[in-house]
Amino acid sequence: MIQHTLDELKRQAALKAVDYVQDGMVIGLGTGSTAKHMILALGERIRRGLKIRGVPTSQETADLARSQGIALIESDNTWTLDLAIDGADQVDPQLCLIKGGGGALLKEKIVAAAARQLIIVVDHTKRVPMLGNSFPLPIEVVPFGWGNTAKQLEAIEGKAVLREREGRPFRTEAGHFILDLHVGSITDPADLEIRLNQVPGVVETGLFVGRTSLLIVGTPEGVVLQT
Ligand code: 5RP
Repeated sequence: MIQHTLDELKRQAALKAVDYVQDGMVIGLGTGSTAKHMILALGERIRRGLKIRGVPTSQETADLARSQGIALIESDNTWTLDLAIDGADQVDPQLCLIKGGGGALLKEKIVAAAARQLIIVVDHTKRVPMLGNSFPLPIEVVPFGWGNTAKQLEAIEGKAVLREREGRPFRTEAGHFILDLHVGSITDPADLEIRLNQVPGVVETGLFVGRTSLLIVGTPEGVVLQT
């Protein structure tokens, strides 16, 4: 049997996702190692004549998309997205997600909400029977009083850990902090998302509920689709 690296499985799934992109579409471009494969595959198609425009969910994605000849919509105003394609950190059987491992969850959720369809691309290890447990839930918070926000989140559930990079708080592109909330099994993602969003200081959570139109999974046995 051929041994596949997880990165190769992500690439195969990303190639499948790009089949859904048609000429003239406006595409929301996700962030992360899986989204990177998707952007490179779009670049290939653009070199063969595809014409699309994109809205990037991070600076990293914007830089890569430009290098691949994807025309970006620079306006912060209003866009109508035909499709958004993104990765995820965990996916449950109802296609609810945990996102934000890369810290881009705020723009990713805005883009997902603006898209007519959201395609999520993962390798098979991201599929879980229930969200939580092995992956903490990222929550973007304003820096002001973040410790108080953390306590209020912990009163709802779990242990909130300030994400750091090189010994300093990690800053999102919007200048916020991320609290990684270590929780057990998330039995009701929709309810938890509502409760977490009610805490003052919370900007957005990494729970994506009811947003996924199509899941594309790279597995050692081939690419699998779920709607
Ligand atoms: C970034 C994200 C990513 O989609 C998520 O972390 C998955 O990343 P990768 O494709 O590198 O496994 O939510 O905020």
